[in-house]
Amino acid sequence: MTKFKVLMISTTIPEIGLRLLKTECDVVVSEGNKNAILQNIEGVDALFWWSKLKLDKEILDKAGPKLRVIGTMSAGYDNIDVEEIKKRGIKFGNTPNVLNDAVADTAVLLTLAASRRFTEGRQAIERCLWKHESGAQWLLGQDITGSTVGIVGLGGIGLAIAKRLKCFNVAKFVYTGHREKPEGKIFGAEFVSLDELLKISDFVIASVPLTKETDQMFNAEAFAKMKKTAVFVNISRGGIVNQPDLIVALKQNKIFAAGLDVMTPEPLPSDHELLKLPNCVLMPHLGSATEKTRSKMAELTANNILKALNGEPMLAPVV
Ligand code: DGY
Repeated sequence: MTKFKVLMISTTIPEIGLRLLKTECDVVVSEGNKNAILQNIEGVDALFWWSKLKLDKEILDKAGPKLRVIGTMSAGYDNIDVEEIKKRGIKFGNTPNVLNDAVADTAVLLTLAASRRFTEGRQAIERCLWKHESGAQWLLGQDITGSTVGIVGLGGIGLAIAKRLKCFNVAKFVYTGHREKPEGKIFGAEFVSLDELLKISDFVIASVPLTKETDQMFNAEAFAKMKKTAVFVNISRGGIVNQPDLIVALKQNKIFAAGLDVMTPEPLPSDHELLKLPNCVLMPHLGSATEKTRSKMAELTANNILKALNGEPMLAPVV
């Protein structure tokens, strides 16, 4: 019996992904750059995708008509031309839920670090600005205890963030999104408009996918509505923020601080303005980067692909 042919992008996938696929398929493992992908993709039945590159018409054309299954090892798929995939009748799945905890942990980390001036404190030590006479008002931060936390997008990750922050004795949780959600009610969060959330929240935490609707939704207008003491946290995608507007808001202290796991572009150049802001904490898109989580993501992607190749529904289908 001829085996299915799968192209795995990239060479860094946790070994369980390859092990599972190899039980039923011939697997070619490729580097994640476009040249390597184009060189290896022709004639494959399925694609295991781990790349921030655009998965577009050019790549799909090069793959040819045999390609009928794609699994991305990510929850987000804003870099993937889903319409084109749909048009071609290709089955496509992603890895939601398995990364909720790891990404929520990252959001909490950034919330604490930004509110307690982590970057500025570290710089003060390096620059010999930490003195005995620095005084009782030096580097004061914002409290989570007693605060109002606003979650923009109460999906699996948003809810996991809220549950963690509850332990910090938050006074009130609000959230916004397309609609009020039963899980919001059960948790005890109030559904409000985006405007209201921006106005009343001490912490604004963004947990929405990047879509046409959310593209640059955090812009000058949004930052102007936020409290001067507000902390903004983004663990979703850099594209939901108008970054020049955020830089102005941070420089002019229109908001207190930001904690970002995602930005534009990625990777961020080492001389980028964001890195020069004392009130900005940055991480290089490590939201789901724990050993266990990445293994679960690899496992789910491989199983999505195997199921679809065998004519069964994917465990986590998108289309
Ligand atoms: C995702 O899965 O979308 C994450 O951003 C990857 O770390």
